[in-house]
Amino acid sequence: MSDTHVVVLAAGKGTRMKSLEPKVVHRALGVPLIEHVLRAADPLRPQTTVVILGHRAERVQEILGKRLGLLFALQEPQLGTAHALLQAEPHLRGCRGTVVLLYGDVPLLRPATLRTLVETHHARGALATVLTAHVDRPFGYGRIVREDGRIVAIVEEKDATPEQRAITEINSGIYAFELEPLFGALREIAPANAQGEYYLPDLVRIYRSRGLTVETVVLDDAREILGVNSRKELAELTAILKSNRADELMAAGVTIEDPASAWIGPDVTIGTDTILHPNVYLEGRTRIGRGCEVHSGVRIVDSAIDDGVVINNFCVIVESHVSSGARVGPFAHIRPQSDVGEQAHVGNFVELKKTALGPGSKANHLSYLGDATIGANVNVGAGTITCNYDGEKKNPTVIEDGAFIGSDSQLIAPVRVGRGAYVAAGSSITEDVPPGALAVARGKQVNKDGWVAKKKK
Ligand code: UD1
Ligand code: CA
Repeated sequence: MSDTHVVVLAAGKGTRMKSLEPKVVHRALGVPLIEHVLRAADPLRPQTTVVILGHRAERVQEILGKRLGLLFALQEPQLGTAHALLQAEPHLRGCRGTVVLLYGDVPLLRPATLRTLVETHHARGALATVLTAHVDRPFGYGRIVREDGRIVAIVEEKDATPEQRAITEINSGIYAFELEPLFGALREIAPANAQGEYYLPDLVRIYRSRGLTVETVVLDDAREILGVNSRKELAELTAILKSNRADELMAAGVTIEDPASAWIGPDVTIGTDTILHPNVYLEGRTRIGRGCEVHSGVRIVDSAIDDGVVINNFCVIVESHVSSGARVGPFAHIRPQSDVGEQAHVGNFVELKKTALGPGSKANHLSYLGDATIGANVNVGAGTITCNYDGEKKNPTVIEDGAFIGSDSQLIAPVRVGRGAYVAAGSSITEDVPPGALAVARGKQVNKDGWVAKKKK
């Protein structure tokens, strides 16, 4: 197969978004629109990928910062789609092969569609191939004009005759072009139209007049090439992405009780026989194992959840790890760099931050555990707090295996509770507790017999 190059147009402002941000950095299902497009093109293994920038170019570049090997070209001012593609020429000079042209705002585009486009383009020996679709409401799109079944021109809405406006086959704006003679022909395009722009679709007429083969590929599902122009469209396309993602996961053996309310990002993986109750949010690079149960109102971001974990209602888990068989929540907050061990329990109103809770350990009620390393089979009583912050820096707490922390204790860090030690309820622990010891650090109780009766006299 010959070399493939990708050019993505992303210079436009997206005025109708009414945003300070450029349109293509807005996110659909947590991923910037332009990243969706680049992912669709990744399987083509392009030799060169050029993104055409204009409005707030530096911001788009910043959002794409993690992608290696991208080339950028600035289009200033923005004089139309043909002019935009011409800006890629310096990066493609001396290259051979096929250019696939994409827009940065079409997040539903599928890799398989681009593969079909390129394969058809090559199989038919075309110099240009246009991706088209049949739609009920073609308003605003370029119309595909055919003679004897063959494409002869694309006419923009504003330049179309009433008969042409009635055509329901539209230009997706996505094409495959042979590099030779693309850029020479682009320079022949003049802004002789209602909008005074350099129209890329004019290439069809130019190629036809030279007898160069132009082909079309007609999409089955026209939704794939829908672009985002407003916040409403962003929500509509996000809903489609969301529903597609839920369908894929259900097909792979995940139970999703209410797919309409399941918000699952494209980079999330979920094992078979896991059950998602309504209204869960699984974001970023989250991985969930097999046979888990995630109850309503849970949000998990960039975290790893092993097999057989139960996460009860209304928990937030961020950048953390929960080991197999653990139970979390309801109403638990697991903050970054925490690690919940196998079969461990984190109960209601318990907050973990940068804390490891060892296997079989339990912190079931109303606790703050921060910067703590807690061993196996530890019982952390209700209301226990690690006082990790001294006003200047964070200090560690260590609780060794099998220790028992009585309810409503404060562990004033840095401090260590030794293996199997007990801390009496209501203690404020400032010094290390030796293994096997009992630490009592609270005022001694005094009972005054008959005190109430005396007071009433
Ligand atoms: C374009 C096509 C139309 C097609 C439609 C599909 C032209 C003249 N028309 O119309 O046939 O049906 O797409 O959506 O090509 N852009 C730049 N620089 C520019 C102009 C545009 O980067 O100078 C980018 C925009 O950011 C956008 C894309 O190109 O991502 C399309 O531009 P837009 O002006 O929206 O074209 P349409 O009028 O939609
Ligand atoms: Ca558009």
